[in-house]
Amino acid sequence: MRRKLAAGNWKMNGTRASLAELAVLAKTHAASEVDILICPPATLLTAACGHAPLMIGAQDCHMATSGAHTGDISAAQIKDAGATAVIVGHSERRVAHEEHSEIVRAKARAAQAEGLTAIVCLGESLAQREAQNTLDIIGGQLAGSIPDNATGENLVVAYEPIWAIGTGLVPDLAQIGEVHDFIRSRLERRFGAGVGRSVRLLYGGSVKPDNAADIFTVPNVDGALVGGASLTAADFSPIITALETV
Ligand code: 13P
Repeated sequence: MRRKLAAGNWKMNGTRASLAELAVLAKTHAASEVDILICPPATLLTAACGHAPLMIGAQDCHMATSGAHTGDISAAQIKDAGATAVIVGHSERRVAHEEHSEIVRAKARAAQAEGLTAIVCLGESLAQREAQNTLDIIGGQLAGSIPDNATGENLVVAYEPIWAIGTGLVPDLAQIGEVHDFIRSRLERRFGAGVGRSVRLLYGGSVKPDNAADIFTVPNVDGALVGGASLTAADFSPIITALETV
């Protein structure tokens, strides 16, 4: 009942030359039954649009609608650029920009108020996992980062263990399943079964063409949020195909 979602986060990578990758992806997956979302840097948002069936998202937004916030972009501006989604609370922003869950929740709310889908990221550090605090951390981030008006359309949750991002390390399938089941149960408890079961849950952290198919067999994994392997069609296309065929 949940539509699968393959999402690529280009982070601070890509120039106009990179848009050629989108044309290849759009052609290869023209009749795809899964949603495909690319989140390029803000400089490419507008230029990245127009490659149906690909959807375009931003990587962050400000919580305010407009004003004196040098260097930031608002959800309204992201929508105006042609995007339909925005990542909020990525660990690279939680850590490097000290964005705690209250800020993430305000950003998610701002995105949803503009009709964008907020992709809220959660994830534990290696020290937190080793101290067996993973579910406490995820539960706290989930409760703090997600606005009260969540629906299956305006919210996607991405579980991205910090220690798996860009490292080549991936939790085993049981570990991914444990966290995804936990997130699902918390969403159902807070929002009721209807909404709780309709929110898509993505796994992120070193998803590659050679491990994607296994990860997609895990219950409550509705797709992936892919960093490095989303930068080229050669890498991202097989991941999309794995999701299409799961
Ligand atoms: P990698 O796929 O490069 O590990 O990055 C994951 C990520 O942070 C996506 O948001």
